[in-house]
Amino acid sequence: MSAASRTVRVRVPAKLNLALRVGPRQVDGYHRVATVFHAIDRCDYVTATPSPVLSVSGPPGVPTGPANLAWHAATALAAQAGVEPAVHLAIDKTIPVAGGMAGGSADAAATLVACDALWGLQTPAGELERLAAGLGSDVPFALRGGTALGLGRGDELTTVFGHGRFHWVAVPAAAGLSTPSVYAEFDRAGPAGPEPSAADLTDVVAAVQSGSARDLAAALCNDLQAPALRLRPELAGVLAAGRAAGALTGLVSGSGPTCLFLAASPDHAFELANAFSGAFVTSGPAAGAAIV
Ligand code: C5P
Repeated sequence: MSAASRTVRVRVPAKLNLALRVGPRQVDGYHRVATVFHAIDRCDYVTATPSPVLSVSGPPGVPTGPANLAWHAATALAAQAGVEPAVHLAIDKTIPVAGGMAGGSADAAATLVACDALWGLQTPAGELERLAAGLGSDVPFALRGGTALGLGRGDELTTVFGHGRFHWVAVPAAAGLSTPSVYAEFDRAGPAGPEPSAADLTDVVAAVQSGSARDLAAALCNDLQAPALRLRPELAGVLAAGRAAGALTGLVSGSGPTCLFLAASPDHAFELANAFSGAFVTSGPAAGAAIV
């Protein structure tokens, strides 16, 4: 934090799901999942500045009031610490909005880290992670970064250590998809199989550990891809175009609609990106939310 300006700026990564196995919906409305989260170097930034009242600003399309999860993050941390949520949160985005890359969750995680520093709270990491889980299933991972197994709602994390980096092309869609609508479409297809577990993720974890992009390409999986494609049939054409352009493989990112293509190298990723307009190149793993 700069003493003169009393401003804290936090960088926070987007996530991919290298594997996303979805089980039945529980009574709390959430599905049990077994997933492998992977943080990438496509980031948002949240800048926290003292302000008489809580306020949020961001680019067009980003909610500025209580509809923004960052607002709830500031409120939840302030309530726990017994302080006023007297902060302005300025959100700079490069993560696609409603794109299946957990951008809103990332902004909430960044807000926890920024407000914790601005208010001098020094909240223990485990406590921040507990607050994060109360905000949303993907928020704890945005704090942690790297690569991690996620069980339960996706919020019970175990870090996976691996070798090397993976290189991707991400193709955002013009309009976002809402996560609840994709899970609802998943449910419409009939009863889910048994509750997924870490045993369903061994191929992906082994590929991350070895650092082999080809092994990872063979192991990537996403149970939300089929429902996302039913809601957005045009995404099938995007996936086909990426494969035709030479990607190791392609898949929908989380609940979509962003499509991801795995490349063999950074140069290969830049070459693939030329097949699309509006695509970006990114790589992982990346660090979790951190002050810059
Ligand atoms: O946890 P989060 O608020 O990000 O989840 C958004 C929505 O996604 C939930 O309201 C729910 O409809 C769906 N979801 C789910 N099962 C999960 C995670 C999310 O059904 N494990």
